Amino acid sequence: MPRRLVWEKNWLRQHGWSSDQITALEASQDETPVEYLTGVAEMAGREFWVGPDVLIPRVETEKLCQLVAWWGQKVFRIESKFSPNLAKFPARVEIFEVGCGSGAVSVTLAKMLPGVQIVGSDISRAALAIAERNVATHQVGAQVRLTQSDLLAGMDFAAFPPADEFGIVANLPYIPTKDYLALETSVREFEPRLALDGGADGFDLIRRLLAQASSLARLPRAIFLEVDPSHDLSFVSEFDQFAWRQERDINGLARYLIGESVL
Ligand SMILES: C[S@@+](CC[C@H](N)C(=O)[O-])C[C@H]1O[C@@H](n2cnc3c(N)ncnc32)[C@H](O)[C@@H]1O
Repeated sequence: MPRRLVWEKNWLRQHGWSSDQITALEASQDETPVEYLTGVAEMAGREFWVGPDVLIPRVETEKLCQLVAWWGQKVFRIESKFSPNLAKFPARVEIFEVGCGSGAVSVTLAKMLPGVQIVGSDISRAALAIAERNVATHQVGAQVRLTQSDLLAGMDFAAFPPADEFGIVANLPYIPTKDYLALETSVREFEPRLALDGGADGFDLIRRLLAQASSLARLPRAIFLEVDPSHDLSFVSEFDQFAWRQERDINGLARYLIGESVL
C-alpha cells in the first residue's frame, strides 16, 4: 500500500482534500503524484497549473531561473533603471525558453526580470495550453509569448524577431532512454515521456538545440541548460562560439551548463 509522505498529505489538505479522501487514497494503489491530483505544483514560491501533459516543475529548476536572472541583471543592468549608463545598454532584451512545459520557468523569469520579453516554446500543444493558463493566471501576458516549435527549428523569427540581445534557457529531456525505462513508477507512468527521455545517450535534444543555436544569423548572448550532473558533457566544446562553464545546485552538484558567446 503506497504510504503518502507528510508533505504530500499537507499538499492535498491545502488544496481542499478531506482526511477521509486522503485515507482512501492511501488505502488504494494509486501512485499519482499529488501535483496531478490537485492540478497544481509549486516552484519558486508560486503555484502553477499542471497536468499529465507537463512535467511537474522541480525545485532544482529554481536555480536555473536564478542564474538567468543574475546574468540578465549583470549584463543588461536591468535593475539599474536610473543608471546614467543605461543608454549604453540594449533597449530590447529577450529570453527564449525552449521546452517550456507548464511555463513555470517563463513565468518565473518574467517576474524576476520585469524589463525582459520572454518567448516560451514547446513541441507539445497540450503543454502550451497549460503554459497559456499559467501565463494568464500570473498576469504576465504582456511579457510572455508562447509558440509551438521543435526546438528552434519552427521558431518563426519573423514573428518573434530576436531582440537587440537575447539569451536561451532550456530544461530539455536529458535522461538516456535505458535509464528512463528504469525510472520509478511515480515518474515514468505519470509524467510525459516527451519531457524526460533524451534519447540513447540523453543528449539528443541538447545537441540539436546547440547546433541550431550556433547556426543562427545572430548568436544568443548566452545559453543556460539544466543537465544531469553525472553526464559527461565534453561534447559541448565543439560548440566553440561559446565559453562553457558549469554551476552547482543546492546539493553541490554541477547541474547547470552555461555557454556565453565569445564572438
Ligand atoms: C524537462 S521538461 C521541462 C519543462 C519546464 N521547462 C520545466 O522546467 O518544468 C522538457 C520539455 O521539453 C519539451 N520538448 C521535448 N522535445 C521537444 C522539442 N523537440 N522541441 C521543443 N520542446 C520539446 C517537452 O514537451 C517538455 O515540456
